[in-house]
Amino acid sequence: MSPTMIAPVVVEENNKYQKGVKHLCDNGLTKVPTKYIWPEPDRPIFTKSDKLTKPKQNLKLPIIDFNELLGPNRSHVLRTIAEACETYGFFQVVNHGMEGDVSRNMIEVCKKFFELPYEERSKYMTSDMSAPVRYGTSFNQNKDNVFCWRDFLKLYAHPLPDYLPYWPSSPSDFRSLAATYATETKEMFEMMVKAIMESLEIDSDDNEAAKELKEGSQMVVVNCYPPCPEPELTLGMPPHSDYGFLTLLLQDDVEGLQILYRDEWVTIDPIPGSFVINVGDHLEIFSNGRYKSVLHRVLVNSTKPRISVASLHSFPLTSVVKPSPKVIDEHNPSQYMDTDFATFLQYISTREPKWKNFLESRKIHHL
Ligand code: OGA
Ligand code: NI
Repeated sequence: MSPTMIAPVVVEENNKYQKGVKHLCDNGLTKVPTKYIWPEPDRPIFTKSDKLTKPKQNLKLPIIDFNELLGPNRSHVLRTIAEACETYGFFQVVNHGMEGDVSRNMIEVCKKFFELPYEERSKYMTSDMSAPVRYGTSFNQNKDNVFCWRDFLKLYAHPLPDYLPYWPSSPSDFRSLAATYATETKEMFEMMVKAIMESLEIDSDDNEAAKELKEGSQMVVVNCYPPCPEPELTLGMPPHSDYGFLTLLLQDDVEGLQILYRDEWVTIDPIPGSFVINVGDHLEIFSNGRYKSVLHRVLVNSTKPRISVASLHSFPLTSVVKPSPKVIDEHNPSQYMDTDFATFLQYISTREPKWKNFLESRKIHHL
């Protein structure tokens, strides 16, 4: 339906929810509005007692210890990384070098940001996808038919001096704490790129892609999931894959992230102070399909607010995203069409950004 055909009553209904979930909850709420109710097959499975049905135990993702990665066991750790990226598309890292204070301060200051009056937060609301700072709600609030129980703050973060002046100036320590966080996450990402390249048997010192990634884009996405009166009817985030190379996710101690593993949604146990790292679409392509960009989604709950901070790292906008020449040969031909990043972004901003449409559309089907 073209925008001109949307009935006025729908426009009005949509406008009501554009201010976000935090705003909705601050005004008192005992039921989930229809706008947030997902079709039954997409909903999480809860029992009648409002407890999440757990078909299995929560998934224990492979754990990568950075200290070990930098020690004599490096080759063993690299194999664990490779297996995790092939099997789950996800792993967790501990002893990653970021001081506990840096990650705790980031979560705390983000919490404070979302507790600011709506008028303060809404200064950053814009539909311009290339704005250095963007505050918003749901997944794609201009397109989503059903809304997600999530508000977000997206910050472009690299090169930092270009973007920092645009970041929120309130709370007063937001910029300095978030800047330290972004810088240290970038360093962690660069260490991970080195390890990932090595795990793919690609020499990272003499490698154009590694250099490009160093100069590539970084976006810090702060997700805020307020408690929800009927969590069994909605989702914090719909099933999606991340478009970049790697995502480094910091969560507070409240669970909510689920990944699709063997056709089942499994919950990831948060390990305090750790990072969850996942393969994005760019890395799936770069590895020629060996490493998997896996669908994940977020559940909400009725009692605890949840904050997560995702740092998405991608190739520069001008790069062509394609399988590494080091992983393809005549026996292992390229499985993906070359795609420039701008086309990528264009695609995800115009389509329902759900499922793995984009990656599927880039696949070459060899006979
Ligand atoms: C994301 C994401 C998961 C979470 O920001 O892309 O998947 O737990 N976040 O908030
Ligand atoms: Ni994601």
